[in-house]
Amino acid sequence: MSNPLISVRNLCVDYITDAGDVRACNNVSFDIAPGEVFGLAGESGCGKSTVAFSLMRLHKPPAFITGGEVIFNGEDILQYSDKQMQAFRWNEMSMVFQSAMNALNPVLPISEQFCDVLMHHTTMSRKQALKRAEGLLEIVDIHPSRLSDYPHQFSGGMRQRLVIAIALALNPKMIIMDEPTTALDVVVQREILQKIYALKEEFGFSILFITHDLSLMVEFSDRIGIMYSGELIEVAPAKQILENPFHPYTQGLGSSFPPLTGPKTKLTGIPGNPLNLLEIPQGCRFQARCSQVTPMCRQTETQLRQIEAQRFSNCHLFGEPIAQQKVS
Ligand SMILES: Nc1ncnc2c1ncn2[C@@H]1O[C@H](COP(=O)(O)OP(=O)(O)OP(=O)(O)O)[C@@H](O)[C@H]1O
Ligand SMILES: [Mg+2]
Repeated sequence: MSNPLISVRNLCVDYITDAGDVRACNNVSFDIAPGEVFGLAGESGCGKSTVAFSLMRLHKPPAFITGGEVIFNGEDILQYSDKQMQAFRWNEMSMVFQSAMNALNPVLPISEQFCDVLMHHTTMSRKQALKRAEGLLEIVDIHPSRLSDYPHQFSGGMRQRLVIAIALALNPKMIIMDEPTTALDVVVQREILQKIYALKEEFGFSILFITHDLSLMVEFSDRIGIMYSGELIEVAPAKQILENPFHPYTQGLGSSFPPLTGPKTKLTGIPGNPLNLLEIPQGCRFQARCSQVTPMCRQTETQLRQIEAQRFSNCHLFGEPIAQQKVS
């Protein structure tokens, strides 16, 4: 990619626990272009939120970033001081947290929660912050008169839109959305994603969009990265990821849920369970569940590499043997 907004390179994050070290994010590399929606999918526990928190450097012990770079606008934010990070967060990159409905403080009116972000990260006066908060409510279709209400006075979908408004508060260039609509019914879910998409078109920010729901992700993302047991195993344009998946795990994901259109197909799913990250085997992490496993898969580490234009996979079945290639 020629001018990415963010380039994540070989990001490694470990949880250092009494039971042992868990490498929940292993050499993860991807780029996101300005205005692009990059989806990150994979089954529960594969490391999606770990990546998200690390990009904002909001991870807390026992999580430690143990390697890699996160280049944003040409600078490695992993090298930023705490003060630089404070200026960076919300101004340049913001986040809608997983179970965002609970991210609002129940004992404070919404006005205070907007002021908290706006006054902490800018030089705005309280009056200016309240004015901006009213504008932000309007952006997410909530009447400004509701500014003094408490979170419990809003519906679940409205609370979700409030959290999105807070993430938009300082016009960031990128927003991480970690399962932004999971707790909502499908109709509200779709409304909110359409709203997010319209806002993205209007304001031009990039989105790192995390969800379990691959069909929603295909609909709302430009490109998709699939994670498995702490590794990014495939990256492809959204349409191709289910129509023509490379990695056997992605193929398995595609045959795990019914297509919305076309003839009925037999659902096969993926046999076995995700890896216990305390017991990583030699070679490919997916080998025990893979129907196409070869002796090489049991011996040689995998690494994400380019297979075709815009197509990346870490599967030994595709492309040249591991070589140092640029990932974009
Ligand atoms: N505080 C912690 N201590 C030890 N291990 C942790 C901790 N937090 C997360 N992990 C491990 O890191 C791995 C990745 O967790 P993470 O929350 O990033 O997954 P996820 O893909 O976001 O899952 P989900 O879809 O359920 O939200 C998991 O195996 C989890 O057990
Ligand atoms: Mg998560």
